[in-house]
Amino acid sequence: LWLDFKPLPTETAANYKQQLRALLFPVTSQTDSVARQELLTAVNGLLGECLKSVDTLQETGTLVIGTPATLPWLAGEAIAEHLRHVGDEGYGIHHTAIKGKPTTVILANTSSGILYGVYAFLGVLQRGEDISQLATTTQPKIALRLLNHWDNLDRTVERGYAGFSLWDWHRLPGYRDPRYTDYARANASIGINGTVLNNVNANALMLTAPYLEKAATLADIFRPYGIKVYLSARFSAPIELGSLADADPLNPEVQQWWNDKVAEIYRYIPDFGGFLVKANSEGQPGPQNYGRSHAEGANMLADALNPHGGVVMWRAFVYEDTEPEDRAKQAYNEFKPLDGQFRDNVIVQVKNGAIDFQPREPFHPLFGAMPGTPLMMEFQITQEYLGFATNLAYLGTLFSETLLADTYADGPHSTVARVIDGSLTGQKLTAMAGVANTGTAINWTGHPFAQANWFAYGKMAWDPDADAGTIAEDWLRRTFGNDASLIGTLLPMMMQSRETVVNYMTPLGLHHLMGWSHHYGPGPWIKDKQRADWTSVYYHQAGKDGIGFDRTASGSGALSQYAPEVQALFADPQTCPDEYLLWFHHLPWDFRMKSGETLWEALCGHYYGGVEEVADMQAVWEAQRGKVDSTVFQEVSDLLAIQHQEATLWRDACVLYFQQFSGMPIPDGLEQPE
Ligand code: GCU
Repeated sequence: LWLDFKPLPTETAANYKQQLRALLFPVTSQTDSVARQELLTAVNGLLGECLKSVDTLQETGTLVIGTPATLPWLAGEAIAEHLRHVGDEGYGIHHTAIKGKPTTVILANTSSGILYGVYAFLGVLQRGEDISQLATTTQPKIALRLLNHWDNLDRTVERGYAGFSLWDWHRLPGYRDPRYTDYARANASIGINGTVLNNVNANALMLTAPYLEKAATLADIFRPYGIKVYLSARFSAPIELGSLADADPLNPEVQQWWNDKVAEIYRYIPDFGGFLVKANSEGQPGPQNYGRSHAEGANMLADALNPHGGVVMWRAFVYEDTEPEDRAKQAYNEFKPLDGQFRDNVIVQVKNGAIDFQPREPFHPLFGAMPGTPLMMEFQITQEYLGFATNLAYLGTLFSETLLADTYADGPHSTVARVIDGSLTGQKLTAMAGVANTGTAINWTGHPFAQANWFAYGKMAWDPDADAGTIAEDWLRRTFGNDASLIGTLLPMMMQSRETVVNYMTPLGLHHLMGWSHHYGPGPWIKDKQRADWTSVYYHQAGKDGIGFDRTASGSGALSQYAPEVQALFADPQTCPDEYLLWFHHLPWDFRMKSGETLWEALCGHYYGGVEEVADMQAVWEAQRGKVDSTVFQEVSDLLAIQHQEATLWRDACVLYFQQFSGMPIPDGLEQPE
């Protein structure tokens, strides 16, 4: 991963050695000890030299690391002023003069802050940056920064493309796989502070004593890295484990069962984070089975967790069993009326878009629509709909596109980021979740570039306003080194890569055209399934008259769930951005695009262009031969070849399929597929 601290070029290393002559880092906690060890190992790797440890500040070039508790004298220095702006988890890294000596200081209020500060400092060294001007003060904008593992107890991973689950349940709690520690290191290094161990489609067994004991071992390993353990709770567990007749949240026996279960969990894991719940969605049990609302279900669990300080993350990814009017409307319809009815320790977890982790979706209309309820973001890091772990798609651009979208919930600049960081409505409970893309694959994520998506997710959970390009460059430098020509070519490739996938899969606002159930490869022809909204024809609505899902007032009306300003932008096909055109509109094949082309020509342009862009990626990568590790080079090279085949398949399948409705020729200069 990005924590491979290979030697820096000699000149850079020599320069750093001048400025880093000694380390003053008193250790008073396990987390301090981890931070110190990480620092020493990394500096040894980067500079080829051990940092000398000292007890007092004597020489110029000492690296001073501590909190007001571990270095009381720091409080008297001007630099301590920064502590007022770093909260519980933030840190400052400053180059300054202390007692007349040029010194680099990493300071924080807590050991966790120190750990994050150390990782950030190591990033500075990896990128080869000047440390004589360092002046960083930062703290996370989001309090709970979580991975969601869709890992089953048999070690399969739902929508996992990087091997099996990291959690070796069979050998836990006895065997503490060193990989658990590496997992914690990687997460802590990007600011992740929580992990939900098991699938949202939850097995109640997870809540039984043997599994709690195993989970407690993982919690013990993760704790020094500032990472809390959370569990997905199956709503019907009182029936399955407790032999109760129902799981009605208003039934006192059910409430008591959860109170007892939660107390038991806290005996195993004293700092347990709380529950993630998928209820009344895709066949999962929930409060609606008993005529109760999502709020009543969530509040029951929240009451059980409250005395222990735990939270409930209640998912808004719901859709009814009956045939929908428009699936995109359902979460809003069910949750908006419940605004203000949730306990303080409940946060509603909303996917970035209203359908399901598509290559592109407009932001979910719930963002900004529930000012009286904390809402958290759920992104999917694993590429369920973006070509799994064989397609290169940097998701930093997808994440930030959603986060920076303006909901207009409270006038302009009411971005999704401001909804979830709490600043828009004054919410205190803030969180972000990312569906993990990790597994037993030797490189953790399957595709070597998928590591960047894990990395970017962590960085954006820390700062949802962070720049996707800066993060991509950071990852590239820490992964491949600082060769300017390598960075200069790979960075634009990464930044374009997700748009490329959109182009050859679902351009112009199309969505859910993927193969039935597995969601890999094209399947625009999918129809006649149990539910209309499990077919592709439902989403693209292609016919002789045109293509696209009308969500305006003349169609499903889903657009009315957005603020008036957003509605005004999207309602008119003349102003609706091309990216969302067929998401909101059903338009004739000869509709005139802003570019002057017909809709059919534009659609073909995207599909053909997407394939060309993959070929460009192959050329860019080929130019890196000899500049990156040969195994990684070959793997990416082979995967890009697969991606090119798949992009071609997507193009040909979609263009041929839609052509039977458009009846129009492939535009000049492009080849008619067979
Ligand atoms: C998608 C995905 C499922 C998952 C669900 C969810 O529909 O395909 O595998 O369970 O999302 O987020 O709950």
